Amino acid sequence: MSRKIFVTTALPYANAPFHIGHFMEYIQADIWVRFQRQQGHKVHFVCADDTHGAPIMLQADKQGIAPAQLVAKVTADRAGDLPKFGISFDHWYTTHSPENVELAHEIYKKLKANKLITSREIEQFYDPVKGMFLADRYIKGDCPKCGAKDQYGDSCEVCGAVYSPTELKNPYSAITGAAPILKKSEHFFFKLSDKRCAKFLNEWVEATPLQSEVKNKLAEWLGDGGKNLNDWDISRDAPYFGIEIPDAPGKYFYVWLDAPVGYLASLKNYFETGKAKANGEPRSFDDFLADDSVEQFHFIGKDIIYFHTLFWPAMLHFAGRKVPNNVFVHGFIGFSGEKMSKSRGTGVSPQEYLKHGLNPEWLRYYIAAKLNDKVEDLDFNPDDFVARVNSDLIGKYVNIASRSAGFISKKFDGKLTKPQLPADIAKEFTAAAAEIAAYYDGREFGKAIRKIMALADLANQYVDANKPWELAKRVGRDAELHTVCSTCISMFRDLTVYLAPVLPQLAANAGELFNFNPNDWKALAKSLPVGHEIKQYKHLMTRIDPKQMDALLEPALEAGKEHAKAAAKPEGKGSESEVIPANSDFALVAPEVPKPIVIQPISETISIDDFGRIDLRVAKILDAELVIEAEKLLKLTLDLGVETRTVFAGIRSAYNPKDLVGRLTVTVANLAPRKMRFGESQGMVLAAGDGTGIYLLSPDSGAVPGMRIK
Ligand code: MSP
Ligand code: ZN
Repeated sequence: MSRKIFVTTALPYANAPFHIGHFMEYIQADIWVRFQRQQGHKVHFVCADDTHGAPIMLQADKQGIAPAQLVAKVTADRAGDLPKFGISFDHWYTTHSPENVELAHEIYKKLKANKLITSREIEQFYDPVKGMFLADRYIKGDCPKCGAKDQYGDSCEVCGAVYSPTELKNPYSAITGAAPILKKSEHFFFKLSDKRCAKFLNEWVEATPLQSEVKNKLAEWLGDGGKNLNDWDISRDAPYFGIEIPDAPGKYFYVWLDAPVGYLASLKNYFETGKAKANGEPRSFDDFLADDSVEQFHFIGKDIIYFHTLFWPAMLHFAGRKVPNNVFVHGFIGFSGEKMSKSRGTGVSPQEYLKHGLNPEWLRYYIAAKLNDKVEDLDFNPDDFVARVNSDLIGKYVNIASRSAGFISKKFDGKLTKPQLPADIAKEFTAAAAEIAAYYDGREFGKAIRKIMALADLANQYVDANKPWELAKRVGRDAELHTVCSTCISMFRDLTVYLAPVLPQLAANAGELFNFNPNDWKALAKSLPVGHEIKQYKHLMTRIDPKQMDALLEPALEAGKEHAKAAAKPEGKGSESEVIPANSDFALVAPEVPKPIVIQPISETISIDDFGRIDLRVAKILDAELVIEAEKLLKLTLDLGVETRTVFAGIRSAYNPKDLVGRLTVTVANLAPRKMRFGESQGMVLAAGDGTGIYLLSPDSGAVPGMRIK
């Protein structure tokens, strides 16, 4: 039976560009969505920008623009990057929209009618200069426990103490530096402490196949009959960039109230702009959501579990709405591996990834291969990335087609004959379909990939055993060659269907080339018919050149580095305080200041004869090696045209030996040799440097080793 499914990913904050963490979430959700579509289910996959809250307001302030302008600026080219990574959202919208206001108001009013909204006066720090109340994050001062200076209002980074901002010694506003004053104000609360909430949430958790890690967290929160559930402060005082609370002038919804409502706002706009209809859902937004058989799923990261498994289901339930059928939680993508953590940047930005011409499907494949259904962090390792893509995708999968398709075109008019899989392989392929489907459905993408690659191994064993390239050379073996190659194409078709959720573009290209629909899961049971025509083989995917990865990870990419830092080291969002994501400021406001270059004064004048005594030559680097005993040096073997020389150069921090081999540079050829601990240095290579970097000189192209520099 065809399921009707509503899927979302978390709405990214609109104060910073996308980072790799966002894309890992979108890729995870997209693979799942594409798989469901492949099974014939109807999916409506939406997202939106999360535009409200204090961080966005303050950042806009700093730039002297309105918050809405800031949001527009940051989100201008959002939509463009998504299809490039094959993310197949049906709709992208914004929480700063009339639909969101309407829905937030409606939900709030229902909660109020259900007596789940209360109000009381609270006392809070207030910045008298800025004229606003300060969330804990915006108050700094001395730690009440250890006295460390400049600690935030919620916890001390030095001693780890956790406290409330009013306990800080010498508190000051992180926005203006002013001493905050305590001021009273009326706040609205969602009564999560109400018995009905704990009861409902317990039932919901019971009925929902949440991940075990999530269930455990919820057990802590919901344990003891819900005694740990506190009322949730859902209002903020003006000035605030958000949605005004009905009948409460000057009071706004806290951003975390209207953000998840944004899921529904996006869906509503998708319906009302006719896109749902175009996507095969003729009903209205209200009718669609009133249908009990419609399933609702949210993909989120581990930092926002609290909001999605307590407040959100409770809000929906007590507003009389459909509640989530599940919340799929993933861990964080981080960066390790020598290349990342040391001299280079700490990560990858999706924008830089594209700019460097890397294939987005490589990233999809790598992430898929590393994902499972747990709340586990995932490590991006560049060497592993290159190795997996090259060996699995090119070496195993594409290889099956590239070693067989050409013969079909050349010898058999591009037409297949009946495939004949050996019985044991046929059995494996047939049994795999259900197993792979279960992995995809259960978000065990790593297992799905391993299974698919095991099938690809079988297919390659078949190719190796039957050697089509040899059959092609023999007389009278054409029928056999035809069968072998047709069998290869048939296995390749199956693998393509299996990989299509992960590699939609590659699968589409393969389908186009070999004339089949890569999303037709049902076709797996039938082999391609005799006489099925395929096109002339074109290469389907290139290998990653490790140099492309190196270029992407260059430390020069300041912006990318910063995005990645934000992605790798998120701020906790589990607390009530509003959080400025670590990446909030850099991109638009304060670029990292590069270390100043100190230009040294020009040296004492010398005569032309003095200069002439230095014999500078073009040299070719024949070899470059690490020097075990000296970590700053590289041992270079230079070709000077007339002789080769060994030179030790202090350029290790800036160059990888293998990147130097073959390049031309400039050397001082008549420098007296120097004995060093590990050998004799017979010259010197020239490089610019001032302490911030090392830049080896190169002659223009055309120069040859041995040429004199004058
Ligand atoms: N705006 C809120 C979500 C509101 S949903 C109603 C938010 N935005 S966010 O931009 O900070 O994060 C968006 C999503 O990206 C979250 O699911 C978050 O967990 C995820 N990730 C952020 N950094 C990440 C990694 N480094 N790795 C994987 N996912 C990460 O939270
Ligand atoms: Zn402390």
